[in-house]
Amino acid sequence: MERQPVLATGRLLLRPFDLADAPAVQRLCGDYAVASATLLPYPYPDGLAEVWIASLREGSERGDAAAFAVTLAGEGSLIGGVRLRIDLEHARGELGFWVAPSCWGRGYATEAVRAVIGYGFCVLGLHRIHAVHFSRNPASGRVMEKCGMLYEGRSRGHFRKWGVYEDVDLWGVLRDEWRERSPVPAIRAN
Ligand SMILES: CC(C)(COP(=O)(O)OP(=O)(O)OC[C@H]1O[C@@H](n2cnc3c(N)ncnc32)[C@H](O)[C@@H]1OP(=O)(O)O)[C@@H](O)C(=O)NCCC(=O)NCCS
Repeated sequence: MERQPVLATGRLLLRPFDLADAPAVQRLCGDYAVASATLLPYPYPDGLAEVWIASLREGSERGDAAAFAVTLAGEGSLIGGVRLRIDLEHARGELGFWVAPSCWGRGYATEAVRAVIGYGFCVLGLHRIHAVHFSRNPASGRVMEKCGMLYEGRSRGHFRKWGVYEDVDLWGVLRDEWRERSPVPAIRAN
């Protein structure tokens, strides 16, 4: 697979994760608010960020993962992550994303996810992009909706998180309908 590019949006630079990001990943993903909305462990164990970042590199080389560190353009600080887990046989990518709670509500997740969806369809040639979120976490669904994804239903008791069976909402979008529904994202790749 080609080297993963850096995507530039209006306010963000989306670049591959680097091992040097591990302490920031541990701190941000170790936030209770992020952990409780995802399948991340809490507390976030030492060493996991390094293993995760290494696995992303391997996935990128195999062509079955594309993960972007979301950084603020200019100052460069890491504020989140967006990843596509790619099923090559079905030309399908599953999105996952998180943003540091101190940066919530400023449109950063929407800006980053929109760019990664554009990358998935226009550069990777995916046919479908989909995602799930805990039904109790509507902000995530709102991001997906703003990025042109369609609500596809609810899977009841789909995950067990901290001993509680959680419903998840399913969202997806096909390349052709995304082209019709979404303005061309303002991204530059280099
Ligand atoms: C979900 C998450 C990524 C959103 O990040 P963000 O940068 O705040 O997102 P944005 O600012 O781009 O958009 C958030 C939208 O959700 C809306 N929102 C926030 N709380 C909400 C709620 N309780 N109910 C409905 N909508 C809500 C916001 O108003 C905004 O929509 P708007 O622009 O129409 O006003 C962030 O909260 C997060 O990382 N959560 C923990 C991890 C997670 O949930 N990941 C997703 C699982 S795949």
